[in-house]
Amino acid sequence: MPFDSPNIMTVHLDKLREAAHVAKSELNTDSLIAVIKADAYGLGAIEVARSIQSKVDILAVATLSEAAELRDASIMTPILLLAEPPISNLEKSLDLDLIYTIYTEACRTSLSSFASAANMTIPVHIKVDTGMTRLGVSMDDAIHYIQDVLTTPNLSVDGLYTHLSCADQPENPENKSQLNRWTTLLNELTSQGISISNTHICNSGGSRLFPEQCRQAVRLGLRLVEDAVTLSSELRLIRFVPAGTPVSYGGLYTPAEDTRIGLIPMGYADGIPSQYQSGRAWINGKNVPIVGQVCMDMIMVDLGLTDHYLTGDSAILLSPSGTDGPSLMDIIERSNQNPRELLIRFGQAKRVKTHYSE
Ligand SMILES: Cc1ncc(COP(=O)(O)O)c(C=O)c1O
Repeated sequence: MPFDSPNIMTVHLDKLREAAHVAKSELNTDSLIAVIKADAYGLGAIEVARSIQSKVDILAVATLSEAAELRDASIMTPILLLAEPPISNLEKSLDLDLIYTIYTEACRTSLSSFASAANMTIPVHIKVDTGMTRLGVSMDDAIHYIQDVLTTPNLSVDGLYTHLSCADQPENPENKSQLNRWTTLLNELTSQGISISNTHICNSGGSRLFPEQCRQAVRLGLRLVEDAVTLSSELRLIRFVPAGTPVSYGGLYTPAEDTRIGLIPMGYADGIPSQYQSGRAWINGKNVPIVGQVCMDMIMVDLGLTDHYLTGDSAILLSPSGTDGPSLMDIIERSNQNPRELLIRFGQAKRVKTHYSE
C-alpha cells in the first residue's frame, strides 16, 4: 500500500530552461554543452534533457549507460561522452551515435578500426590534461596526439578541451596557471596551422571566472541546476521544551529560554547534510533555525513560544530563489558541502519524491 511522503524535491523545469537560455546568451557561446551526468545531478536526466534540449547544443554524460538511457528515451540531441569507455564496450556503443572524448592510443586506434568496419566517421573531442591530473593526454604529448588523431581514418576532430581543477575556488592561482597552459597549447596549434573548432575549458565556476573563454563552447552542469530546485517537507510535531533542556543527539543545543521545538521528518538519510547544524527552514513565511544534531530521519527547529506555527505547516529546506527558504549556496556555506553532491543526494534519497513543475 503506498503511503504519501511529505518530503518532496520539486524540479522547476522552467527555471532550468531559463538558466540555459541566460547562460547561452550571456556567454555568447556557439555550443552550450549541458552536463547531465549522474542523472542530471540527481534531478532526473530524461526529464531534464527533454526540457532543455531545445536550449542547448550538446548533452554530456559520463558513461555509456547514461547515454543509452537518453537514446532509449528518444532524445536525439548530440551527446558528448566525457570519458573513454572500456574498449570492450566501444564497438557496441557505436549505435548510440555519440561524440567520444578520447585521450589514449588504445581508444584512438580501436575507435578508428570499429568505425572503419562500420563504414562510419565518428566525431571526437580530444581531452588534454592541463593540471587536473585525472583524464586527458598530457601537455607533453598533446600536440603529437592531436596530430595523430587528425590523420586517423574515420575519426573527425570536432572539439578539444580541458578541465579546470579549482574553478570552485575563484581565488586559486591554479585557475590562471591552467588557463595559461591551455592558451599556450592553442597558440602552438595555430602556429602549426592546425585549427580545431569547439575548444572548451570552462565548467560553471570557470564560466564566471573566464567568460571570454566560453565563446566556442562551454560545459555547464551546476550553473543550470543550482536555482531550479525546491526541497520541502512539513512540521510534524511541536513540543514545549523548558529552558536548559538538551535537544537531540549529544545534547548539543540547549535553549536559553523556554521554547517550542518543531520536528521536520527529513534527516541525513534524505540528503540533509549532518554538518548542517546552523541551517534554517522556511515555515509559514519565516526563517526558523535548525537546532541540535541532524538525525537520520529528522531535524529539529526552534520555533520560540509564538503560536505562529502549526503541525502540518509546509517547511522549505531549499528554495530556488533563496528568499523563501535557503538557497543551495546558503546550505553549502553552512555545511561546507559540494553543491552537486547535495543535489545528487536529495535526488537519490528513497524517501524524497521528485516532482516536476513546468
Ligand atoms: C569534464 C567536466 N566538465 C564539466 C563539468 C560540469 O561542471 P559544473 O557542474 O561545475 O558545471 C563536469 C562536472 O563534474 C566535468 O566533469
